[in-house]
Amino acid sequence: SKVLVINGPNLNLLGTREPHIYGATTLADVENGLVAQGKALGLEVSCFQSNHEGAIVERIHQARGEGVAFVLINPGAYTHTSVAIRDALAGVAIPFVELHISNVHKREPFRHHSYLSDLAEAVMAGFGTPGYGLALQYIATRLR
Ligand code: DQA
Repeated sequence: SKVLVINGPNLNLLGTREPHIYGATTLADVENGLVAQGKALGLEVSCFQSNHEGAIVERIHQARGEGVAFVLINPGAYTHTSVAIRDALAGVAIPFVELHISNVHKREPFRHHSYLSDLAEAVMAGFGTPGYGLALQYIATRLR
């Protein structure tokens, strides 16, 4: 099965960006780890990162044509602002897990609301970058 991992704005800075919140692991480390873990689980994992809302919307549309079975998305700040990404995920009707590296609920109030959570199959927050691997494990079980 195909799994698409999407990381939104500023997650390209992972490893150097506010390391007290997001840790020292880079996005390349995360993505390489997920591809390898996917292989071991029999999943074809592809990864996409963009700082542009429209590019993320278009990548989600493309996923339907590719037969992506599951999406793992960390929408970054678009979590709290983007009706467009919400509508794209609803539009393609691909099940997804919403992931946040930090526990958004113990941070600023504006991070407490998500435009995606009520559509997500599961939501994960506060597990740091290891959360990506835990979420992929869940997805593998779910697709089996
Ligand atoms: C984040 C949390 C968001 O509030 C923030 O804007 C991010 C990253 C996280 O992974 O913890 O960019 O999604």
